[in-house]
Amino acid sequence: MNIRMISKLAAGAAVIALTAGAVQAQEEVEVLHWWTSGGEAAALNVLKENLQKEGVGWKDMPVAGGSGVQAMTALRARVTSGDPPTAVQMLGFDIKDWAEMGVVGNLDELATQQGWDKVIPAALQEFSKYDGHWIAAPVNVHSTNWLWLNKAALDKAGGKAPENIDELIALLDKFKEQGITPLAHGGQPWQDGTLWESVVLSTGGMDFYKKAVIELDPESLSGDTMRKVFDTMSKLRTYFDPNFSGRDWNLSTALVIEGKAGAQQMGDWSKGEWLRAEKKPGTDFVCIRFPGTQGSVLFNSDQFVMFDIGEEKRDAQLKMASAVEDPAFQIAFNTVKGSVPARTDVPDTEFDDCGKKGMKDLAEAASGGTLAGSLAHGHAQPGAVKEAVFDVVTQHLNGQLTTEQALQRLPEAVAAAQ
Ligand code: BGC
Repeated sequence: MNIRMISKLAAGAAVIALTAGAVQAQEEVEVLHWWTSGGEAAALNVLKENLQKEGVGWKDMPVAGGSGVQAMTALRARVTSGDPPTAVQMLGFDIKDWAEMGVVGNLDELATQQGWDKVIPAALQEFSKYDGHWIAAPVNVHSTNWLWLNKAALDKAGGKAPENIDELIALLDKFKEQGITPLAHGGQPWQDGTLWESVVLSTGGMDFYKKAVIELDPESLSGDTMRKVFDTMSKLRTYFDPNFSGRDWNLSTALVIEGKAGAQQMGDWSKGEWLRAEKKPGTDFVCIRFPGTQGSVLFNSDQFVMFDIGEEKRDAQLKMASAVEDPAFQIAFNTVKGSVPARTDVPDTEFDDCGKKGMKDLAEAASGGTLAGSLAHGHAQPGAVKEAVFDVVTQHLNGQLTTEQALQRLPEAVAAAQ
């Protein structure tokens, strides 16, 4: 063999190696997400395994922190350094923001082929599409106006689920008498905001929520109804345990699961923790709409946004988006996660009673005009406004602002953030 032949062979081997490398790289997705609690990770596993069956590898990029605040900071750093991940879990207005920057991929072809237009509800399409193009694959629909109760504690307190704030307060008093923490709350701005939006909806009803939170009407943000909201927040604060500050949401759920606390106000991802602990709805726990919000749904939807990172990643991205919209996956994932399907054509048969209620409530709210985006989970306002509200709500809850000051600050902070 002469030198020329050897170098030709070597070059050939290099090409083969390169191609093999490229194929391997092509068939892997790097996924940035914040699903790090037990229930969340179990749900995500369903997707990982489905993709593995399709020959698509999974590079995990978990960034802990409920509602994705820290995940979005990590994403900004990755994009700024010119190295965005393949796919990113994202909520509502964040999707719009990234789309506007022109860095996300287009899923039109797949969406058309699979008829997404017909099965994804309009409220989600509002965020899955930008400028008429599909740019995200919705995984689920979560809802935030729920209350999770320890069944044994509730039974001991008489067994009646509260239907308004007064009944809730009466129940929390009974939990107090039982010697448990009445309301398990984690003091983080997004959790304070999640509680606040349920109290807003309960106090003023859906029309008021829309006026105050969606339209940002200054009078609604500072008037008598909002005064009641802040007063109720102060009252609820008296039912927290001394260690609430900074606590992660799933640790609060654990307190209710263990019977150390009676109730938690939280989105239905909370159910994922109960199921993970092998607890059953109706037997071990009770899920009800946050008292006073029956008939209305505040929603958020986790979607996967595919970043535009070149043709060689595209095949794996499309496989992932397709796996997410598969009706069988929608059932397998959402029954574990606590959410309900993002598609309207998935039957509820496999879902437990809370899931069935979630699906029914969502459909009724969508057709009856009582469905609105969750502020705390990115579906009511862009990030800056959301944060401005969090600031006021958290400071007030921690006693740094009086109700009077909060009522003055709220419209000011919102106006400055717009
Ligand atoms: C997401 C859920 C997640 C929850 C807690 C929400 O914003 O939509 O999927 O489980 O945050 O991290």
